[in-house]
Amino acid sequence: MGELRGTHVPVLLERCLELLAPALGRPGRTVHVDATLGLAGHAEAVLEAHPDTVLIGLDRDTEALAHARVRLARFADRIHLEHAVYDELPDVLDRLGYPAIDGVLFDLGVSSLQLDAPDRGFAYAQDAPLDMRMDQTRGVTAEEVVNTYSHPDLARVLRVYGEEKFAGRIASAIIRERERAPITSSARLAELVRESIPAPARRTGGHPAKRTFQALRIEVNRELAALETALPAALDKLTVGGRMVVLSYHSLEDRLTKQALADRVRSKGPVDLPVELPGSGPTFRLLSRGAELPGEAEVAANPRAASVRLRAAERLDPEEARQGRTDRERYRRRVKAMHQPGTGSPGSATGPGSAPGDGNGTDEEGEGT
Ligand SMILES: C[S@@+](CC[C@H](N)C(=O)[O-])C[C@H]1O[C@@H](n2cnc3c(N)ncnc32)[C@H](O)[C@@H]1O
Repeated sequence: MGELRGTHVPVLLERCLELLAPALGRPGRTVHVDATLGLAGHAEAVLEAHPDTVLIGLDRDTEALAHARVRLARFADRIHLEHAVYDELPDVLDRLGYPAIDGVLFDLGVSSLQLDAPDRGFAYAQDAPLDMRMDQTRGVTAEEVVNTYSHPDLARVLRVYGEEKFAGRIASAIIRERERAPITSSARLAELVRESIPAPARRTGGHPAKRTFQALRIEVNRELAALETALPAALDKLTVGGRMVVLSYHSLEDRLTKQALADRVRSKGPVDLPVELPGSGPTFRLLSRGAELPGEAEVAANPRAASVRLRAAERLDPEEARQGRTDRERYRRRVKAMHQPGTGSPGSATGPGSAPGDGNGTDEEGEGT
């Protein structure tokens, strides 16, 4: 294991701990999954805060796992650190004999260990071989993507995963360059991207290669496909009262998270039925109001926190979910009655959108801070 390069300041640490505490601090042994263990900053804080919690930490990066193992050595009797992609979580839990979990954290994206490593090719600001694999034991590298994908495929990757306006131009420049000589270094690729976009665009929106590097990283690591599978799988494993917290760093991750949670917090039953039909009620409630952002002080102290978006949810007791529906219906009837001629004024009703116990999961709900 090499020397630790860079330090990782855990993002939104206090908020994550606050959100997970009601689930992990329950009496008896509780089980927490850190699906993106990284350098174990969040994991260490969870283990310190909850002496009866068992941690299952996953990471696809063997180097990160090695560092995490050293950092968490004093908790050795209550940790399981696993080399796995997070969509393998159900298999890992089966293998370890944990049918359900109480908390799960996804802190998405790359760690500072990966970003700062001069030899892994994630950073456009450093020259390195174009690798970008989080798991260096398998999979295709960014070099293979850049030198073998067709123009349409390259352009699609850059447009969809990088939200790059000049995807077509950059793809053309890559194809031209690789016909002369294979593109093997991150500095050459960054320069090529800079040269291929119009001069005025070079001066706005940060480094011109930022979006291309993000797109290649997502493609190489199949990040969105893994996340799309992993989020529902992790939600399924949570006990009643169990909580999930997700930290996303770009809009594609945040959108998948929002969709996965929205699917669980919405009632699928007919709107006007006073009770939930079996199996149609919400199974989770949101704990965050929309996507929570970091405070100015955190961004000033840790620039990597700048783009974070936090979303969180808690599994509902099915009985409470049914009760919430009944309360909601009672409330609607009361408001309707107040609006009937001769039944008095609407009084202090706050409107149907804010019905008590309404777990519909609009972006405005959640317990907030
Ligand atoms: C932002 S870092 C996590 C940092 C960590 N919370 C801490 O406090 O040190 C993200 C980590 O997740 C890992 N990772 C990213 N995608 C993954 C996936 N699909 N499966 C498993 N690990 C993944 C990366 O290798 C990286 O180490």
